[in-house]
Amino acid sequence: MKTNIQVAIDGPASAGKSTIAKIIAKNLSYIYVDTGAMYRTITLAAINAGLINLDGDASEISDVAIQQLLQATQITFKPSDDGQLVFLNEQDVSEEIRQSHVNNLVSLIAAIPTVRRDLVERQRIIANENNVIMDGRDIGTTVLPHAAVKIFLVASVAERAQRRYRENQLKGIDTKITLAEIEASIERRDYLDSHREVSPLTQASDAILVDTTGVTINDVVNEITTIINNKIK
Ligand code: CDP
Ligand code: CDP
Repeated sequence: MKTNIQVAIDGPASAGKSTIAKIIAKNLSYIYVDTGAMYRTITLAAINAGLINLDGDASEISDVAIQQLLQATQITFKPSDDGQLVFLNEQDVSEEIRQSHVNNLVSLIAAIPTVRRDLVERQRIIANENNVIMDGRDIGTTVLPHAAVKIFLVASVAERAQRRYRENQLKGIDTKITLAEIEASIERRDYLDSHREVSPLTQASDAILVDTTGVTINDVVNEITTIINNKIK
């Protein structure tokens, strides 16, 4: 039986996971799986279905409603020139899932055990069929515990906020949101992600810590590519 190669990249918000994972996936011809986009898409579906209001109280949502939502929600990735498009059923939601209304609620929806069970299953199906580089919060600990390579990517919160602020200005997403607000929102999300009961954000015992503070994208790509090459040769 052919075994697929699995690379897991976890870490807090805006550490550079998706940027690095996309480049390496392209270089190695692996499938890139953006699990954060999956949680973001379910969150948008929950908002659209009126299951959660923008003040956010996920404890009000019944498990039956969440199960129905999950059943009705197809999440598809399609390659595009500047990366990857994300579809909620037939609708291109690539931009909307990065906006603040989704940012503010995603960690609440992602903490619901039924949501995690469902999405983890979808992620494992993709990983069983392809060589993958998958990024998220619980890939090395829960989704792919036997991944050949596990990276835990971090950077200082100040630098992560700067990066996300610059990215928003460049892409025209939530351009009125200040740097201080972005930093607060990232810290809140990191806190919720690290303190939830089911598969919280934490470094797997066999993951390699890579600190990208002050390190260029190119240098991080080279460092992780070397780690992968050494592991799989
Ligand atoms: O891009 P950024 O790091 O800001 O976030 P993301 O990777 O798109 O993930 C958005 C949110 O989804 C996270 O803050 C987590 O609440 C949740 N998430 C998760 O719980 N588990 C994952 N494997 C991936 C994301
Ligand atoms: O996926 P994650 O939330 O961990 O981060 P990202 O979306 O890949 O990166 C957030 C921003 O940081 C992007 O605009 C990247 O271009 C930038 N970045 C950087 O400036 N230097 C790095 N070493 C890594 C990412």
